[in-house]
Amino acid sequence: MKNIFIVLLSIAFVATSCQSEKKPEKEKIVIGGKKKSTSPEFELGKKLFKGKGNCYSCHRVDKKSIGPSVIEIMKIYKEENGDIIGFLRQKKDPIVDPDNYAVMKTNFIRLEKFTDEELKAIELYMNEVVAK
Ligand code: HEC
Repeated sequence: MKNIFIVLLSIAFVATSCQSEKKPEKEKIVIGGKKKSTSPEFELGKKLFKGKGNCYSCHRVDKKSIGPSVIEIMKIYKEENGDIIGFLRQKKDPIVDPDNYAVMKTNFIRLEKFTDEELKAIELYMNEVVAK
């Protein structure tokens, strides 16, 4: 009877020590891996931004080219609580560089063919790419 008790006790001990070993392992993966978003929506947004959307030919991430950089756009949109999708659907006025709005306007005909999901993915990409 005493032996059974010892066996049960050691099983319980092994079980709890296994559990406590698992936890730090999980955390290691999070700490070890760089902050890198690879969600399917991010990848779609990136593809559209650089491909079909053609945004990248005027918008670099960190420096001004024909249009303002994505960093600059997102900074102002965060400060002003702007609505990117609303802007891309021509429901909101420009708040970053209204003097050059005419250049950006040339995109709206193409953007009309984009689905809401595609515009959401572009917005998510612009949001997350500046956080990297
Ligand atoms: C032909 C060049 C060109 C292309 C292509 C282009 N943009 Fe722009 N974009 C501009 C210019 C110039 C501005 C600055 C004028 C302005 O603020 O509206 C701008 C401004 C913006 C702004 C800030 C608008 C504001 O509130 O002032 C957003 C957001 C934006 N572009 C998103 C996009 C996205 C998304 C795409 C791809 C679908 C894209 N742009 C493609 C030239 C371009």
